[in-house]
Amino acid sequence: MTAKILDGNALSAELRESLRQRAAELAAQGSKPGLAVILVGENPASQVYVRNKIKACEAVGVHSEKYEFPADTPPEKVLHKIAALNADPKIHGILVQLPLPPQFDEDEVLEAVSAEKDVDGFHAENVGLLAQGNPRFISCTPYGVMEMLSSEGISLRGMEAVIVGRSNIVGKPMALLLIGASATVTVCHSQTRDLAFHTRRADVLVAAVGKAKMITGDMVKPGAVVIDVGINRLPDGKLCGDVDFDSAKEVASLITPVPGGVGPMTITMLLANTIESADRAAGK
Ligand code: GUN
Repeated sequence: MTAKILDGNALSAELRESLRQRAAELAAQGSKPGLAVILVGENPASQVYVRNKIKACEAVGVHSEKYEFPADTPPEKVLHKIAALNADPKIHGILVQLPLPPQFDEDEVLEAVSAEKDVDGFHAENVGLLAQGNPRFISCTPYGVMEMLSSEGISLRGMEAVIVGRSNIVGKPMALLLIGASATVTVCHSQTRDLAFHTRRADVLVAAVGKAKMITGDMVKPGAVVIDVGINRLPDGKLCGDVDFDSAKEVASLITPVPGGVGPMTITMLLANTIESADRAAGK
């Protein structure tokens, strides 16, 4: 079997067209959606992500503001900027690009963002609402994965879903969303004893560990849906996922590529959250 490839660029283009229309409607009512992005330090991957987020805003008609701080910035300075953005009516979403330099307490920074503008869904209040099955903002990457599964008409009820990776950004919210969709969920991590035992049981396998090609075809159940959240750079400069695409695609029924899979969906859901936030603010 050779898997069908789930094209995140094509699905993103479709979704972004309808987001562009919603943004234009809001702008016509005097409530143009606005996103502020904060980047601290010179992490090259973060710089690329932030650039892509700003470009995507421009393409769908979302106002964007970028605030860059040098790596040695005292945390108070960034917290001060966040407080100003919390109070700014032009801004409906605030995103602090992670990771932050070591002098920062990441939790303190994430909690400083108004929960009503937390379009990343990282604020403890929003994580709690998601855990209760009543989300305000869903973190963009797991949200994008759910949109991809739903675009294929996949019913998750009763499915064995296995997530590899337990990060706050992907693994944990992904588990909550899949539980909410009535899948039976297993979360594997670096201390899991027999990883392949678990991955081979998965009807839906989500790889989010950050290790190039660590999930190989022999670890995939025949006919499984394989979602690759990893973005890793190989020594030759090429990007690859956490899944060994060439071997896994011979076993899976559906697979996401890297690049061009989950990555573009993450940015699309950031736009969706920002527009949703502007919509809520306009309705107040
Ligand atoms: N760093 C890696 N992924 C993300 C993300 O989705 N949001 C933010 N803010 N930082 C990240």
